Amino acid sequence: MMDWTDTHCRVFHRLLAPHARLYTEMVHANAVIHGDRARLLAMDPVEHPVALQLGGSEPELLGAAAKIGADHGFDEINLNCGCPSDRVQAGRFGACLMREPQLVADSVAAMVENCDVPVTVKCRLGVDDDHDWDRFLAFIDTVANAGCGMFVIHARNAWLQGLSPKENREVPPLRYDWAYRLKHERPQLQIVVNGGIATQDEATSHLAHTDGAMLGRAAYHDPYLLHRLDVAWFGGELRTRGELLRALRPYVEDQLARGVYLKHITRHLLGLFAGERGGRAFRQVLSEGAHKPGADWSLVEQAIEITESFAGERVDAA
Ligand SMILES: Cc1cc2nc3c(=O)[nH]c(=O)nc-3n(C[C@H](O)[C@H](O)[C@H](O)COP(=O)(O)O)c2cc1C
Repeated sequence: MMDWTDTHCRVFHRLLAPHARLYTEMVHANAVIHGDRARLLAMDPVEHPVALQLGGSEPELLGAAAKIGADHGFDEINLNCGCPSDRVQAGRFGACLMREPQLVADSVAAMVENCDVPVTVKCRLGVDDDHDWDRFLAFIDTVANAGCGMFVIHARNAWLQGLSPKENREVPPLRYDWAYRLKHERPQLQIVVNGGIATQDEATSHLAHTDGAMLGRAAYHDPYLLHRLDVAWFGGELRTRGELLRALRPYVEDQLARGVYLKHITRHLLGLFAGERGGRAFRQVLSEGAHKPGADWSLVEQAIEITESFAGERVDAA
């Protein structure tokens, strides 16, 4: 997610969910080719398996960017066909690509040819008021035939006029049944459903119909949900929030020693105690202290201790 899922965020999420597949924010193919790769493609080895999401619509550029991403160590290259922002539309990529299946197929083919990791696509159900199942299926088939074996379906339309990107994540109604039907009609494809999944039960219920569930906002705002899901789906011991966060200490200290500011890491931690007694105090300590000069791990420890003192942290039932 743009501006949210940077490498610090993904390292934290990996700690919470050892089995999840993590995704970068969308990076335009041109930026991958010409930009500051050390920054744009920053990735820690603990993040694996991690996918690089590309934006763009020029097959040659996407092919070159996919190769760079795979050579950089990303485990999957994903093409964004779901972003509705004006800037993205003006660049003729993102959600408006759902109207150009052949261009997406050509792009996927170029990416597949240039890299040796899976190439996947994240898309919507359609754009504007197009609710034609056959057109959606034709999009999927055209792109699948070019070498895409996995689709992440943000299960609502994108409205290209009149809605902000934020509204486009809330206003067009969710229709999970289309993702389910897609899996039913194309069982050979891996189908991952996305959009509005907010609880463990919701996420789990999707697995009866699809191969996976992708969580965006809920994972960011309530990251402990990722941990509960990982334990529920893959086994292992449920650890407390404090325990999990303390395991991040070596990473944080290493990053601080490299000159990274504490606030750049702690901004991703703020939701860890969401809904818990003391959750507000945790946020407050970190928000108020992390930007101060010299802020270090002791601030995080202080935030955990204050929070734990509220109730004595309990391990939630899975
Ligand atoms: C701040 C923000 C940035 C996002 N950036 C991206 C992005 O770069 N690429 C992408 O495919 N989706 C992006 N999305 C959309 C999410 O990946 C997801 O599809 C959408 O929020 C619906 O899922 P959710 O309800 O689980 O959040 C973004 C969402 C938010 C809130």
